[in-house]
Amino acid sequence: MEASDDIEVRQVTAEDSEQLMAFLLEHYYPEEPLTAGTSPPEPEEADKTFLLSNIPNGTCYVALERGSSRIVGAVVAGYKDADMPKIIAEEAFTYRNTKWGNILSILAEVEAGSDVCRRFDLPSCIHVHALAVNPQVRGRGLGVRLMNAIAARTVELGQPLVCVDCTSVYSAKLMERLGYQLIHTLRYEHHLDARGQQIIQPPKPHESVQTFVLKL
Ligand code: COA
Repeated sequence: MEASDDIEVRQVTAEDSEQLMAFLLEHYYPEEPLTAGTSPPEPEEADKTFLLSNIPNGTCYVALERGSSRIVGAVVAGYKDADMPKIIAEEAFTYRNTKWGNILSILAEVEAGSDVCRRFDLPSCIHVHALAVNPQVRGRGLGVRLMNAIAARTVELGQPLVCVDCTSVYSAKLMERLGYQLIHTLRYEHHLDARGQQIIQPPKPHESVQTFVLKL
């Protein structure tokens, strides 16, 4: 059966917050390589608060089983502009020596290297922060449908580009299939602390954060 027969994709509203976070805690955070590759395993409150803060932008979508309304997939996105590399670096410093601080430290290095808004001379764009599909329905094109919903919303908002930092090989393959352009790669083994220790220890087979963009 085609995914489209029994699963609908729709925008997330404020009322969905609790159910969305329950889904992310079950199917996003435990597998997402930055979260899985730092300790302790559980995401910090600041991380969860940040993801949910994107809902009012209308840039978050869920895949729902028709009938049961159970969430089986989600994508969380938001705006970013040329100040983002500086903002993330400051946040990484604020949260230094914590799990969220370690995650922000690699995202800050990725932002500095990809520097999307300056690179493409854009006032702003849409950035995908999280993407997950329940393992029971993976491989049925739900990741594609969620990313297509973000691209359509990006056009609707008059934004010129979608950007995504793929921390997982699976999301990177998905972006390649969707025709996204790879603009930056940071290998986990090259993101080190002041003592030269690798900060993120991702599970196999993940090796790098790859930044992809789609110009619209
Ligand atoms: N582990 C093992 N296999 C996976 C997988 C994973 N995390 N993600 C996808 N696959 C497999 C699928 O089952 C499918 O296999 P098949 O060809 O035998 O059917 C194939 O890879 C292609 O899958 P695709 O349709 O691209 O996956 P999807 O859109 O259903 O899911 C993600 C892709 C990224 C949403 C999914 O891997 C996920 O939820 N990961 C956990 C959270 C995460 O790491 N997010 C990315 C952070 S940037």
